[in-house]
Amino acid sequence: YNESLKIHNEILFPNFCNELLKIKDLKLRPDDTFVIGYPKSGTTWTEEIVWLIQNDLDFEKCSRQFHFERVPFLEKEPLNKIDLLPAPRVFKSHLTLDYLPDKIEQFCKIIYVMRNPKDMLVSYFNFMKSIKGIDYNGTLENIIEDFSQDKIVYGNWCDHVNQFYSNSNILFITYEDLLEKSFEIVKKIVEFLGKSYTDKEIERLIEVTSFKNMKSTSTQLSRFHSDETFKRIDFSLFFRKGEIGNWVSHFNDQMSSKVDDLIKHKINPNIEIRYLPSK
Ligand code: A3P
Repeated sequence: YNESLKIHNEILFPNFCNELLKIKDLKLRPDDTFVIGYPKSGTTWTEEIVWLIQNDLDFEKCSRQFHFERVPFLEKEPLNKIDLLPAPRVFKSHLTLDYLPDKIEQFCKIIYVMRNPKDMLVSYFNFMKSIKGIDYNGTLENIIEDFSQDKIVYGNWCDHVNQFYSNSNILFITYEDLLEKSFEIVKKIVEFLGKSYTDKEIERLIEVTSFKNMKSTSTQLSRFHSDETFKRIDFSLFFRKGEIGNWVSHFNDQMSSKVDDLIKHKINPNIEIRYLPSK
């Protein structure tokens, strides 16, 4: 499992992040959009919504072309390939602003998605176990211990979230709100991106990007994708539950207090973290 990771500035990254330092020099375009979040926080879902908003709700293309062919994974794709992509580009990234071009948020639109860390950790654990060729044999307790020592990829969770929250140019949304207040949040993203769609169009966008739909489309389209990294992912497992509060079935009290203790003194106190469904 360690062979699939690398360390930079004392932060762990997946091995496929091969040009980390060069990303600072990425040639930005004003119509580039970045969807960023800590891994397993709902980035793929948010990207699909943002891609559709930026591509005139091209539902047909969405159902025909695999998500990761339309949404380049910034730290994974070769930069010379990225330079040639047609506009408008919608990027996926888990990187913090330290790795991105200076003042990127003043030049391009960034949407950041946060998810409660307990659901994120359960999702991360299951994802690790499902990747072909890694043979991850740790437990969820091991993952929580790694989390406490910043030994999961992309560094400390609180630092990640705090950095994006405190930047007023960035739209900060949560997985929990996107699931429970879909219409309100999607409308907010549409407005942030300077677009205008009817209520009916927004409803359709929410339907197309539902967990069930994305799971079935991605599972089918991924079969024809040749990228080695994505071939190791079983997309029927990648879209696992898509719920708020699934951690309750996997955490005991001790595990839960451990995560609470880790974040309570570090997280920006203005950030509201919701661990359970509100209804
Ligand atoms: P679970 O493992 O809890 O189901 P990321 O894309 O950042 O890796 O996040 C993956 C998580 O987002 C997974 O969580 C996945 O099921 C969930 N997800 C993906 N698409 C979703 C959608 N359309 N609606 C709700 N959740 C979704």
